[in-house]
Amino acid sequence: MKRMREIAPSILSADFGNLARDVKMVEECGIRYLHIDVMDGSFVPNISLGAPVIKGIRRITTMIFDVHLMIVDPLKYIDDFSDAGADMISFHLEAVDNPIPVIDKIHSRSVKAGIVIKPNTDVRDLSKYLDKVDYVLVMSVEPGFGGQKFMPESLDKIKWLVEEKKAKGLDFIIEIDGGVCLDNIKEVSDAGAQLLVMGSAVYGREDVPKAIAEYKGIIE
Ligand code: DX5
Ligand code: ZN
Repeated sequence: MKRMREIAPSILSADFGNLARDVKMVEECGIRYLHIDVMDGSFVPNISLGAPVIKGIRRITTMIFDVHLMIVDPLKYIDDFSDAGADMISFHLEAVDNPIPVIDKIHSRSVKAGIVIKPNTDVRDLSKYLDKVDYVLVMSVEPGFGGQKFMPESLDKIKWLVEEKKAKGLDFIIEIDGGVCLDNIKEVSDAGAQLLVMGSAVYGREDVPKAIAEYKGIIE
């Protein structure tokens, strides 16, 4: 996983009336990671989907399920999302008093653990946890909605994380989420982001396979 540069399409921008079709469509393009946004209407203003939907699409694909929890009290729901078929679960630093029990709980289910920060959170607040997580997710928009504009300040966070990895010999994956599109994908990738979440830039395109091929050509 270390030297990877991969796109993780976000099903938040898929057609929920044709979800199975939209999931298979990206899998057939050689996509390995599927980003799944869980919103509770409390941590963020929007409500998206929960464990039963994940369980449903788990039956139709072997892609790696990257579940991004935008919920209060993530600890309470780790079992549900693990049971539903998550391979990776990330939760927000801002949603918990102490991330350690959440990370431990995710690992106890043999799932990869990630920690997420919102745009206004200082990336250095993650220092204590970088040796404990499998990945870090930097939000480059305010969480809650797809289709927002990329916040370029997030690139400095990515660069800081790259430096920390080097300085401390750590091997967590760096993921970025929000507003990644054709205009900035090269810059985001060059900054050191390894897993690139793309919602509207994938599912909002007329020809999804063509869009994915185009993005892959830039980052690989
Ligand atoms: C936003 C979600 C994102 C969203 C990204 O809160 O975490 O994963 O789907 O969508 P785009 O790529 O359209 O910004
Ligand atoms: Zn997300």
